[in-house]
Amino acid sequence: MSDTASLITAWQSRFDDVLETRLELTTSAPELLRQAMHYAALSGGKRMRPLLVYGAGRALGLAPQDLDGIAAAIEIIHAYSLIHDDLPAMDDDDLRRGRPTCHKAFDEATAILAGDALQALAFEILSEDRVLAKHPERQVAIINRVARACGANGMAGGQVLDLSAVGLDLTLEQLQTMHRLKTGALIAISATAPALLAGAAPEILQRLDRYGQCVGLAFQIHDDILDVTGNSQTIGKSTQKDAAQDKPTFPSLLGLDNSRKQAQRLRDDAVAEIRQFTGNCDCLEWLAGYAIARDS
Ligand code: IPE
Ligand code: IPE
Ligand code: MG
Ligand code: MG
Ligand code: MG
Repeated sequence: MSDTASLITAWQSRFDDVLETRLELTTSAPELLRQAMHYAALSGGKRMRPLLVYGAGRALGLAPQDLDGIAAAIEIIHAYSLIHDDLPAMDDDDLRRGRPTCHKAFDEATAILAGDALQALAFEILSEDRVLAKHPERQVAIINRVARACGANGMAGGQVLDLSAVGLDLTLEQLQTMHRLKTGALIAISATAPALLAGAAPEILQRLDRYGQCVGLAFQIHDDILDVTGNSQTIGKSTQKDAAQDKPTFPSLLGLDNSRKQAQRLRDDAVAEIRQFTGNCDCLEWLAGYAIARDS
């Protein structure tokens, strides 16, 4: 394994403890809700967004420990988005990360509320984080950007576009907008939040944002591809669902080959954005490649 891959694996395994510690804020919550929140957040997953937080931090000279609050908050929002995405009213999925989806393991009402509570928990974490509190203005900026990334002009807005696109022929531009919002926004803020914490120059912030936008879109294109070509056991979710539900996707619009090419171009664009950094971008480069080469 390369040094970069080993570092990423080390971050990944360390992150389970980080998340468990941050979830201690739910200790006095009603037991059923606490269990559902833990079930959804501590069920594995690739931890792509936290890895991007740590990877960007490395490029900026920030230690992982200083970024744990940001990484945990973003991953917790992601976990909430998956619970809601799987609900019968949305994608109606039974399998997530190789286990029954939250509403199957518990019930729909509990799953909805676990999602709600996870989203709130993320902002509780960001607003109480000791490292962020050392720079109140930067802390507020991070909270603001994370809120934007998961709200009406970000993930939630993208999910509405996704659901209202069922059965429609979207243009490439419309499809890209949908993917950028539903998935790209949270991935982009993972790359830029460390720069906000570091008080980085606008140009660096902009480059990390463009890197994150490219990786985010590529990541969702690859998710669309895996829905067609993936193995349910490996990806831990049902496959062939997008076509069955008549969802417009990159493969349905461009075909598999062109979708792969598009994802590769975005990976290259992402890497080009960060090439001139003086900091160590090995992990960011690795993660851009991983976004489009992963088998789960
Ligand atoms: C799945 O996200 C939903 C998308 C936004 C594509 P991930 O592929 O990051 O899921 P986990 O966290 O690894 O399970
Ligand atoms: C999910 O997109 C995007 C989210 C914001 C959760 P998908 O619906 O394609 O994700 P999967 O395939 O269920 O993981
Ligand atoms: Mg969906
Ligand atoms: Mg889904
Ligand atoms: Mg999908």
